[in-house]
Formats: sequence, structure tokens, C-alpha cells
Amino acid sequence: MKTCLAIDQGTTGTKAYRIGADGRMELVGRRTHRQILPAPGWVEHDAEEILRHIEELIADAGPVNAVTLANQGETVVAWDARTGTPIGPAIVWQDTRTRDVVTRMKDEGLEPEVMARSGLPLDCYFSASRLRWYLDHVPQARDLHAQGWLRLGTSDAFFLDRLCGVFATDITTASRTSLMNLRTGEWDETLCRLFGVPVDCLPAIRPTVGDFGQLRASGVPVRVSVVDQQAALYGHGLQKPGDVKITFGTGAFALALAGTEACLEAGAGILPTVAWQFAGQPAIYALEGGVLTAGAAVNWVEGLGPAFSCADPALLAASSAAEKGVFFLPALQGLGCPWWEREARGSWAGLGLDTRPQDMARAVLEGIAFRSVQLVQAFVSATGQAASRVSVDGGLANNAWFTQFLANCLGMPVHVPEQVDVTAAGLGRFWRESEGLMQADTGDAGWSVVSPRPVGKEARWQGRFDHLTRQAVEWAAK
Ligand code: G3P
Repeated sequence: MKTCLAIDQGTTGTKAYRIGADGRMELVGRRTHRQILPAPGWVEHDAEEILRHIEELIADAGPVNAVTLANQGETVVAWDARTGTPIGPAIVWQDTRTRDVVTRMKDEGLEPEVMARSGLPLDCYFSASRLRWYLDHVPQARDLHAQGWLRLGTSDAFFLDRLCGVFATDITTASRTSLMNLRTGEWDETLCRLFGVPVDCLPAIRPTVGDFGQLRASGVPVRVSVVDQQAALYGHGLQKPGDVKITFGTGAFALALAGTEACLEAGAGILPTVAWQFAGQPAIYALEGGVLTAGAAVNWVEGLGPAFSCADPALLAASSAAEKGVFFLPALQGLGCPWWEREARGSWAGLGLDTRPQDMARAVLEGIAFRSVQLVQAFVSATGQAASRVSVDGGLANNAWFTQFLANCLGMPVHVPEQVDVTAAGLGRFWRESEGLMQADTGDAGWSVVSPRPVGKEARWQGRFDHLTRQAVEWAAK
């Protein structure tokens, strides 16, 4: 039976699965890499360390017919074209070192032009300002550029260059840089000039499903390269505009299909992005909304001490924090959709002398659910269309209490996969589709449905949470 290797290279680690022609998945292994935090707001990875993990997992997988790769989106690397050696750290999508640069660009009135071309607001979340950072802060980058040997790219481009000798990215990843013209699917010279990123240092943009060369070591072809969120969208098997998936990882990212038109005027803080493209076919677009800290907020609160554990059964058995008037805004790295206010910060509200750490921890989980409701509401305002289906994946999708609370707050069923690694499943589906191996649509097989059981107070709780969010936006402006 034909088999592909699905490598899900994410923010905190790398997982690999062997996926058969029938879609069956077998875990090959997982690795975690270091999160390097050299200064407040700076988040770095060692690209060589991650590459080593990918190579180990490829070796552990044994013979396969194809390799597919998901990447962590907006994380960037700079390297020497001659040796493939990085000339600085990988700068992660969470890193805010270029916040002042994008604020200055906003003050210069450049945001409408950037949005009209890329679909994205000016924010240091996207890759462009961090790609420029190397030229401004790493002397070797300037020297290499002068000699024509500088390569700048998202992490996928670095891995593909080293694994296959192919300097390429895919259209979904390129659509997260702020440098790609969303209508043409090509690097936009005006955007490259505005951000100061030389276009000749950037990788070629290829369709998501197609040809990314062969592994140097074995000759196995790399058939798929894609942002992890988009792989998850495909793994969810969503077919209709109005169907929304939310992946709960480091952040929580919601995507909904939008069709073959780049809807640059989505509005409501919802961003147009590329969902995928099969070689020889038009690109399919999606709408995206993100909560920048979800799993990261859980890790943070648990780091405050054992009393703040979110896994404590007593915490989940206790009554809701919102019921006790305690709320938490998970804006630890600012607010993404729909505000895009990076100066906003997290906060607890409603504390009293009777508040216990357990309530505060539970409020963090509830805050992630309330923020997710804001995302779905933003989709509804942007499209004028009610959400027809919400499905979830990622770490918090495993938490039955959380998915029930989310369904209650949304007032609609939440679909939960039995196989939680939907990103890897999506990679497998891309490959199977391109090989003509997909059977008839499997519909809801492998999914369970969590029906809402509201207590009747959810709308009031959401109103209080929305108020807390608006206060954080106002606070940031002071
Ligand atoms: O935009 C960043 C996102 O794609 C990262 O996802 O799963 O690696 O946290 P994850």
C-alpha cells in the first residue's frame, strides 16, 4: 500500500505520522525544540535543531512514497545560499521585536496600501518586518546580500532548501508574509519596497500540493508544503463557506473557506488568506481570525504554581468562574482578531477575597472560549452569514469540559475529531487527493458532536467578557 510521511512542524514541536492510502495514521515520533527567549517579547528557535528533528523523523519512518510538510506559518529564517547555514536565529511568529517598525509604518499611513495588496493589517505577527530585521541587525546579512548569497524565507523554505535543494515556499505560507499580492499569488514589488525586503532574496512561490523536489538523502518526493492552520482546515474536510474550524494550539486560529475569490474587503478584523492550491488549479481562499495566546495562556497560568493547574479534576468539577463573576482576558501578547491591538494586555477581573487560584485558572480556560466566540461572531459580521458548523482540534479539543463550555457559549454544536492530530490528517488528505486515493467523502465519521447545554447566563457572561476586552483596547491607547 502506498504511504506518505506527514511532518507537522509546529511552534513547540515536530510530529510525524505514516499515513496510508486508506487514511490510517501511525505515529512515527515527536520531538520538542527549545523556545529561546533572549529578551522580553523576543521568541526564537534554532532552525538547525528543528531540521535535525525532521531528519531524524524521516529516518525513523522508513520507506515511504512521499513526504508532506506543515509549517508554523510566519516564523522566518535567514541563511547563506552557498552553505545553507542560518546566519541568525529563527524569529518566531510570536516575536514582537519589530513592533515599533510596524507602528512607524502605520503612523506613516501605509496600512491601507499594505491591506489592499496583501489583505493583512500592519502587525509584527506577519513575516515581513522580521525578514527585514536581519538586514538591519545582522551585518552578515548585508554582506551576503551585496554578494547575492542571502536567502530570506519562512521556515518551510529553509527546510526545503536543506532537505531537497529547492528554494521554494508555498502560496499559503507566502500569503502570511505581508509581501505576497493576494490577487496574483506573486511577490508584490511595492510591498517588498515598503518593508525593505529584497525580492531577489525570497523563495519561489509554488502551489501547496505539487512538486517541492526530492529528499537529497533518499530521492523521495516532497509533494505538499503548507501552513499548519491550512492543513488543519483541509483535515477538517470543511466544504462550505460558513463552516468554521478552530485549532487550539499555542494560539487559537479559526479559518473558514471563502471560495476562489480573494475577498480583500472582509472587514471586522477578519483576514483573507490562501487556504490551498493544487498544481494546475486556481487558489482557494479562506478567512482567518486568531487568538494569539490560547495554549500559551494555559501554560503561563500553570507556571504560576501547582494551585493554578488547569488539569486538576477539582477545578473542572467546580462551578464556572464566570458564575462567580471572575473573568480572564487571554491577551498576554496583545489582541489579534478582531482588534489587532498588540499593546493590549491580559487581565483578571472580578476578583474578591473569596477568589481562589482554582477560580483564576478556570477563568483562563473560560476566557479562551469567550475569545473563540468573538472570532466566530467576527466571521458572522464579516460574511453576513451565520456559522453553519464549528469544529475544533488541537490540545484543548481533548478537554471535554472545555468543548462543552464552548458549545454552551456559542449556542451551537461543536464537532470534535476522534483523531485530534487534524493537521497531520490534512497533510495526508492533500496527498491522497492528489494521488486519486480519496474514497467518497467520509462525512462525519470519526467526529463526535458536543451539543450545547446552556445554563441561560452565557449571553450575560459574554457581554461582561466583551466589556473587559474593550477596556483592554482602550487601556492600550492611553
Ligand atoms: O500563525 C501561527 C500558527 O500557524 C502556529 O500554529 O500550531 O504551531 O501553534 P501552532
